Amino acid sequence: MAAPLPITVEDLNIYYGDFLAVEDVNVQIMPRSVTALIGPSGCGKSTFLRTLNRMHEVIPGAYAKGKVQIDGEDIYDPRVDPVNVRRRVGMVFQKPNPFPTMSIRDNVLAGVKLNSSRISKAAADELMESSLRGANLWNEVKDRLDKPGLGLSGGQQQRLCIARTIAVKPEVVLMDEPCSALDPISTLAIEDLIHEMKQDYTIVIVTHNMQQASRVSDRTGFFNIAGTGKPGHLIEIDDTEKMFTNPANKQTEDYISGRFG
Ligand SMILES: Nc1ncnc2c1ncn2[C@@H]1O[C@H](COP(=O)(O)OP(=O)(O)OP(=O)(O)O)[C@@H](O)[C@H]1O
Ligand SMILES: [Mg+2]
Repeated sequence: MAAPLPITVEDLNIYYGDFLAVEDVNVQIMPRSVTALIGPSGCGKSTFLRTLNRMHEVIPGAYAKGKVQIDGEDIYDPRVDPVNVRRRVGMVFQKPNPFPTMSIRDNVLAGVKLNSSRISKAAADELMESSLRGANLWNEVKDRLDKPGLGLSGGQQQRLCIARTIAVKPEVVLMDEPCSALDPISTLAIEDLIHEMKQDYTIVIVTHNMQQASRVSDRTGFFNIAGTGKPGHLIEIDDTEKMFTNPANKQTEDYISGRFG
């Protein structure tokens, strides 16, 4: 369950080899709330998101400098095991990515089985059901748990991936454009789910859809780049309502009013 402390990012610089992709981020991400990240393509939203669970560095040559404190612990401290960080901070991607050969049941438990091999059948069934309920998918799949995950619709597959993510009981859930491949009805289902999930998790979502950001988030952060090859910056972060009605920064105002990007 979500840590009670904010995620504190200090002096974070994010590189791909020599290329500084995102420069000098300082931000606090509030617990048990939804933070949306918006900004034009290439400004570093996905890059930043992946530094919050140490997924960035799996790309060859990629690294980050600075501090990211989760529940008071710097996840970049050399003593910290990145595998453990990725368990505490789950991630949902743009394109639903269920394991193609696995049943619905096995998809939900995939991360759990990797993490702790010894879990009883009864405990596994209970966890599977609660995760599917948590992802608002249980009623739609309870009669076909042994059928392939790929047999679900796109929106159902995305909720299956959310169930898989929450089955390992993370504190934080990162989502990178989780609805961009979905129809409007499935999108609303995911948005409702995000809204419910914030009671238990700290959620950070990247979205290109500003209506979505304003519907689903409590806080919104705006990233921007000055030009190609320049690093992205977090320009402004504030309460979502303020960001969309009365942002402090002119760049934010231009972006949200569609004058740019
Ligand atoms: N694997 C990579 N190797 C090298 N450079 C990369 C890699 N991934 C992203 N970049 C670069 O880092 C910068 C930020 O990219 P990123 O994907 O984070 O942007 P984004 O804001 O998520 O964009 P979009 O809205 O299009 O998804 C871009 O200049 C991009 O070309
Ligand atoms: Mg992206």
